[in-house]
Amino acid sequence: MSSNSNITVIDHPLIQHKLTKMRDVNTSTAGFRRLLREISLLLCYEVTRNLELTTETIKTPMTEMSAPVLAGKKLVFASILRAGNGLLEGMLDLVPSARVAHVGLYRDHKTLEAIEYYFKAPQDISDRLVIVVDPMLATANSATAAIEKLKERGANNIRFLCLLAAPEGIEAFTKAQPEVPIYTAAIDSHLNEKGYIVPGLGDAGDRMYGTK
Ligand code: PRP
Ligand code: URA
Repeated sequence: MSSNSNITVIDHPLIQHKLTKMRDVNTSTAGFRRLLREISLLLCYEVTRNLELTTETIKTPMTEMSAPVLAGKKLVFASILRAGNGLLEGMLDLVPSARVAHVGLYRDHKTLEAIEYYFKAPQDISDRLVIVVDPMLATANSATAAIEKLKERGANNIRFLCLLAAPEGIEAFTKAQPEVPIYTAAIDSHLNEKGYIVPGLGDAGDRMYGTK
């Protein structure tokens, strides 16, 4: 794992291997979904690595002990629809007690602005860690819009987790949300003229759901 100020690249060999399979145009819809779910477990492990612990007194079959448990209120995972759900599901396997927010956004293909169509979040997110998930950080318009919406609802402790980030998106995101750390499995070369990440993996939502 390499960390540079606000961005952490989670370059675990298993993640890199699975990411290569996901990028491959010959990978099927079912294969893509399975790989994204598997990768989400590994990414979740890293994005939660420094969560605070407290202790609880429990009894093992042998004796009483003071044992570590997560401190504070339950986490919130905020999924940017649609493709965020591919990361969300695996993360909920690891942290089943997490609360979930859904932010429905799609990119206008001409302007690349994020258009909102749905928002539902837990009321009390101001005292919880909110991990926003979306496989792709391209222009960062979607991530920024989602985070602004969550901040309006009171979120103030936020991390952003994606699979692929473009340098242009990282720059825009860091300007708009300087206090929000980014976790990604890779930083790609650039955005093309249509706002797609190159080399990338194509349209994440379409590849997950077979809609193209
Ligand atoms: C994709 C992706 C991100 C967004 C990233 O969603 O899942 O949400 O694009 O691009 P940006 O950084 O330039 O905003 P899309 O709009 O294709 O919607 P979908 O998930 O419903 O397919
Ligand atoms: N959204 C995607 O799904 N893929 C990209 O390359 C850019 C935005």
